[in-house]
Amino acid sequence: MSSIRERSLAPQGKEKMDWVREHMPVLKGLEESFRKSTPFRGLRIAVCLHLEAKTAYMCRVLKEAGAGVVVTGSNPLSTQDDVASALVEEGLEVHAWYNATREEYREHLEKAANFSPELLIDDGGDLVSFIHTKYREQLPRIIGGSEETTTGLIRLRAMEKEGVLGFPVMAVNDALCKHLFDNRYGTGQSTWDGIMRATNLIVAGKDVVVIGYGWCGKGVAMRARGLGARVIVCEVDPIKSLEAHMDGFEVMPLQKAASAGDFFVTVTGCSKVLTREHFEAMKDQAVLSNAGHFDVEIDKEALVALSGGYRRVRKDVDAYALPDGRRLYLLGEGRLVNLAAADGHPAEIMDMSFALQVLALKYLLDNRGELANRVLPVPQDLDSEVAKLKLKAMNIEIDRLTDEQKAYLDSWEID
Ligand code: ADE
Repeated sequence: MSSIRERSLAPQGKEKMDWVREHMPVLKGLEESFRKSTPFRGLRIAVCLHLEAKTAYMCRVLKEAGAGVVVTGSNPLSTQDDVASALVEEGLEVHAWYNATREEYREHLEKAANFSPELLIDDGGDLVSFIHTKYREQLPRIIGGSEETTTGLIRLRAMEKEGVLGFPVMAVNDALCKHLFDNRYGTGQSTWDGIMRATNLIVAGKDVVVIGYGWCGKGVAMRARGLGARVIVCEVDPIKSLEAHMDGFEVMPLQKAASAGDFFVTVTGCSKVLTREHFEAMKDQAVLSNAGHFDVEIDKEALVALSGGYRRVRKDVDAYALPDGRRLYLLGEGRLVNLAAADGHPAEIMDMSFALQVLALKYLLDNRGELANRVLPVPQDLDSEVAKLKLKAMNIEIDRLTDEQKAYLDSWEID
């Protein structure tokens, strides 16, 4: 039995799924081949992801590949109720709704765990962490899992280091066909999509402060520049800071940038990044948003303490008034703005990420019993295969090395 908000929204959700399917050719190719070969026949798969149309389409592919599938959201504001409803209509078990409370979110995870999965896909590590803390008896049955994000991998590596990881997990985020495209171009575009949908404000001519210069931060900064903003990057890592400088951005400490920014985007994966001292220095009507996985980067408690609370002034926009009358606008309650206020990454990008997810599960299955309980890289040939399929789908041809060139690259002796 599923637990969703509203069954009647299914036609709208199906329409969204049909649209993305036509823009996800690699996943569509897998769907066609796995429908025939049914590699997951009889298996139970739990999926804990941002439940929007691209995710739903991937879940459909898993079902067509023979699996029983349970789906839960990986963030309270990223579930789209119409999409959840469409999946239930297609016979999947779904436990998720938009704006789930903390307790409801945990209940949904609990239901996914009670499905007794043998394989799982996680985004942020909540499901894996939940099973390891509350359902330890399930660990021996689980063939393996796969993780979508940088944040999730940080948690999983902490588990591995402590020696508590109970099954192998594929680090999909670290595959090149994932982070070079999804984290950079996906987050870059969808973050601005979310900010612009939420605010309907111009970015050109504004000062944008991007905090964190990993792959996601690079994308957010690059697209801000493309929109005509002046971009400041704040970063704690010296190498990434240097990289940001040579990429042509202004680099400075956050306290200095605080008084300059019109838009702030946190994308660090860390907690308490924008705090009271920064809020106190900000301009009237500064817009604060987060594109990192958890809502811990912008210190909401400090915002409340400074202002006494917020007033919702527009969908996804809360205004916090400082004692002197300045207003700070927080988007999407400080949750990932690209999913809270928009539809997440573009379909063509999630095509590669989700093709990798499906292939990672197949790899776990094909190597069942032979993999260590560790965080494992996606094999390079699988990563390259996804790139080849994507290029083919885009009608892009590339050159090949000649035998002579291969021999040259393999040689090392001096003439
Ligand atoms: N859609 C589904 N999962 C997503 C993710 N992790 N980031 C952005 N968009 C998504």
